Amino acid sequence: MAKLTSSTIHRVLLLCFCLLLFHIFSPALSLETTKLRGSCVASERDALLIFKEGINGLPGRLLSSWEGQDCCRWRGVMCSNKMGHVVKLDLRVKLDLFLPFSMSSDISSSILALEHLNYLDLSFNDFGGWQIPKFMGSFRNLKYLDLSNANFGDNVPPQLCNLTKLRHLDLSGNSLHSVDLVAWLPRLSSLKHLDMSNVNLSAAVDSVPALSMLPASLRVLHLFDCNLNATLASLPLYSSNLTALVTLDLEDNYFHVSIFDGLLGNMTSLEELQLRSNDLVGMIPETMKNLHKLKVLDLSENQISGDIAELMERLPHKIQSLYLGANNLNGSLPNWIENMTSLSTLDLGYNSLTGSIPSRIGKLTNLSSLNLGSNQLVGMILEDHFTSLTRLEELYLNNNSLTMLVGPNWIPPFRLKQVDLSYCKLGPHFPTWIQSQTNITFLGMSSARISDRLPNWFWNVISQIQYLDLSLNQISGVLPMTLEFLSTAVYMFMHSNQLKGRLPKLPMGLWYLDISKNYISGPLPLNLGTVELNYLFLSNNLISGTIPSSLCNQLQSLEVLDLSNNHISGQLPQCWTSGNSFRAKSELRDVGSNLIMVNFYNNSLSSKFPLFFRSCQQLSFLDLSYNNFTGNLPAWIGTRLPNLAFLLLKSNMFSGHIPIKLSKLDHLQVLDLAHNNLSGTIDPSLVNFKAMTLISPYTSDLNTIAADIISNLDDYNDPFSLFVITKGQTLQYQKDNIFFMLSLDLSGNRLTGEIPEMIGVLAGLKNLNLSANRLTGNIPKMIDGLQSLESLDLSNNELYGEIPSTLSTLTFLSHLNLSYNNLSGRIPVDGQLETFDDPTIYIGNNNLCGPPTSKNCSGNQTTMSDLPEHEDGYDMSSFYLSMGLGFAMGFWMVFGTLLFKRTWRITYFLFVDDICDRIYVFMVLKWTRLNARIKKK
Ligand SMILES: *[C@@H]1O[C@H](CO)[C@@H](O)[C@H](O)[C@H]1NC(C)=O
Ligand SMILES: *[C@@H]1O[C@H](CO)[C@@H](O)[C@H](O)[C@H]1NC(C)=O
Ligand SMILES: *[C@@H]1O[C@H](CO)[C@@H](O)[C@H](O)[C@H]1NC(C)=O
Repeated sequence: MAKLTSSTIHRVLLLCFCLLLFHIFSPALSLETTKLRGSCVASERDALLIFKEGINGLPGRLLSSWEGQDCCRWRGVMCSNKMGHVVKLDLRVKLDLFLPFSMSSDISSSILALEHLNYLDLSFNDFGGWQIPKFMGSFRNLKYLDLSNANFGDNVPPQLCNLTKLRHLDLSGNSLHSVDLVAWLPRLSSLKHLDMSNVNLSAAVDSVPALSMLPASLRVLHLFDCNLNATLASLPLYSSNLTALVTLDLEDNYFHVSIFDGLLGNMTSLEELQLRSNDLVGMIPETMKNLHKLKVLDLSENQISGDIAELMERLPHKIQSLYLGANNLNGSLPNWIENMTSLSTLDLGYNSLTGSIPSRIGKLTNLSSLNLGSNQLVGMILEDHFTSLTRLEELYLNNNSLTMLVGPNWIPPFRLKQVDLSYCKLGPHFPTWIQSQTNITFLGMSSARISDRLPNWFWNVISQIQYLDLSLNQISGVLPMTLEFLSTAVYMFMHSNQLKGRLPKLPMGLWYLDISKNYISGPLPLNLGTVELNYLFLSNNLISGTIPSSLCNQLQSLEVLDLSNNHISGQLPQCWTSGNSFRAKSELRDVGSNLIMVNFYNNSLSSKFPLFFRSCQQLSFLDLSYNNFTGNLPAWIGTRLPNLAFLLLKSNMFSGHIPIKLSKLDHLQVLDLAHNNLSGTIDPSLVNFKAMTLISPYTSDLNTIAADIISNLDDYNDPFSLFVITKGQTLQYQKDNIFFMLSLDLSGNRLTGEIPEMIGVLAGLKNLNLSANRLTGNIPKMIDGLQSLESLDLSNNELYGEIPSTLSTLTFLSHLNLSYNNLSGRIPVDGQLETFDDPTIYIGNNNLCGPPTSKNCSGNQTTMSDLPEHEDGYDMSSFYLSMGLGFAMGFWMVFGTLLFKRTWRITYFLFVDDICDRIYVFMVLKWTRLNARIKKK
């Protein structure tokens, strides 16, 4: 599971989509296979028919042509010219054939009539996780066998050893493993092309001998993501007999080794070496220069270190594509880089390069992709840097300290498709040279210090855009009424600018829009124009009016909606009520069912608690604070919203009791009901929020949904935040720290009765505010159970009795307010309470005495200052506790940064291929999330 890494998934996905697209657009190709034909041999025809019948389910278009006498005319079948024997079966699936089918074992004997078969392609079918049929080993004449991406499972059958004539074997993209590799692999002595990517070899005890016996004829070897350990993975590198190897792919095996001592044996034919996503350390060896034919070298995502100039000196001259992203390289780019005239791709992103970029880089006439993003480069980028870069299509200079200085009339020699200049200084004027870049699909110009009007030509120029990031500038101007014409747009980040106008009608396929912190005004459009939107951030604008019910349809895919700090009024649409009765019932359940985070903080919404949320099963974050909501809190919040982790209803006019059912919310970690008109008592069973009883939410898997979504938000610079009043201040929680806030705030209501003793179970709680209510009784002794408490406010109630000495054991407590109650007796001065010397936290309690108050205690007043016997125990536990928290915090930060290198990840995908870009980008976030979940396990 852990090895299901992002690059694996992305690669497989990419491959799938590319191939599928390829097949959609080239139906002619499959017809080709039937052109060469003789007349069909009857026994072979029968075998094919049995094969067809053996396939369960609907065979779809391809096999429906399998009718009539002459099987050589059937689609996917090719016969030999002379004898009419079936020699080739190309059953690679078409898009409409993605149907599960399996082959039962009884078809095995009949199919053997196809003894002349030398080509079999079953790739991209769905064999339902079944084993590769053993009879596959009986096609002794097979030269070409492609079983890739066909959902085969289980052990690779050793019967494959009979295929001694095989030249091309592709088992990639399945869920296969091989425990007895040596039983079959070494016998395939004619192999030229072997792809075992994704075949799990971790259980293959014999893979060392097996891999060392690979035939010398081998030209292409893919062992991508095979769970090879260090010894295994390095083996093919040292193996001296693979002298014909042209392509070697050992990507994503996590082997940790310094491969670079005495490496690569005699592989002087090597043209492509793929070692991405491993754990390689150190500098590449000088012998690398001997690989004269090497064109493609991919060492990204390793721990290669040392000076970049030194590394480049060790490269063979013919190198065309050099991928060194996400390593530990330092030093500056050498001036003689201009000599590397073959370079077409140079990826040095995510390293620690320093110095400036030599302008001679502009002489690399073959350069089409340059990535220097996320380094520590400084200085100017001038027109000179691009003099001869006529082929440049991808340019990443983001996240350095670079200043781009080009003339206002500069016409660049290139036509870029992807460019990221975020955090370069481009401003103050909007760069005019963009106007010539009409092919642009990816444009990043966040934090580019542009303070200018968005030029009118801009939207036309970016008509092919998929990813647009203009955030964090001071770009002004009025948005057009519609952006529908940006029909390929998927991501748009425009937050933190000075854009005006109404929210435009959006591109149909838009998936992520962040336009918060601008001056968008007027009502929301009746038709958003999009059905794919998952993330919508409109906070901190001037949007007014009500939320139109026509948006119900468009809410179906929405996961995150942030409308906080606007002027929206009225009530939320009740998408599923009688007003919409024309919609089918099953469909109704879907409205809002994907919503995970909803933020309406600080608007003017007024109604009862919106019924709309009843269908939001996934809802994890709900902030309705600072609105005009009224009425009771419905009990269904506790049952219909089982994933709720953050519920903020502060400063509304909710009344009635706090429903006991709220305690059913196992994930609830922030409950803010402050400043409403709530009455009644705090029921003992209410204060039993499971998530708040845990010291850190990360000790359990409780918050996975919210954690996933928030981790992705972090990925996207979003403004989403949680405000908690604690320690007397309003603190903002975002991204990494939001999960560390556990808060219960019931202040400013009309709650009566006592504080339940049970409250002591909330060991994870950091903020407890019950101030400004009408609570009576004693402060519960079990308050010492609130081990994580940092801020406690019980002021302005009617509490009486003594301050329990147990309070002084709360070692994290840094803010306390007990003022304006009717407490009495000596204030305990030991332990944590010693640190509080502000008398205002006790004022308004006329019968309290001792420091820090000015009142002396009379002799017979009990002191209660004796701490419980287990004082030492407490100290120890809090010591360990703080260690634990420190660890959790550190872990999350490191883990967080690794996970959230947004631009880098996306740009990587966009690098790959044009046709697949769009679909690909689209999948990225989904998979990222899945991935995050997997990693957490
Ligand atoms: C408790 O809540 C009240 C009212 O909401 C607020 O004024 C006070 O600052 C809060 N106390 C703390 C310690 O944050
Ligand atoms: C304060 O508490 C005492 C008991 O400790 C009680 O007799 C008295 O009535 C209380 N005063 C008020 C104003 O509630
Ligand atoms: C405690 O609360 C009282 C009343 O709300 C306030 O006057 C006082 O400043 C608060 N003390 C501190 C330290 O926050």
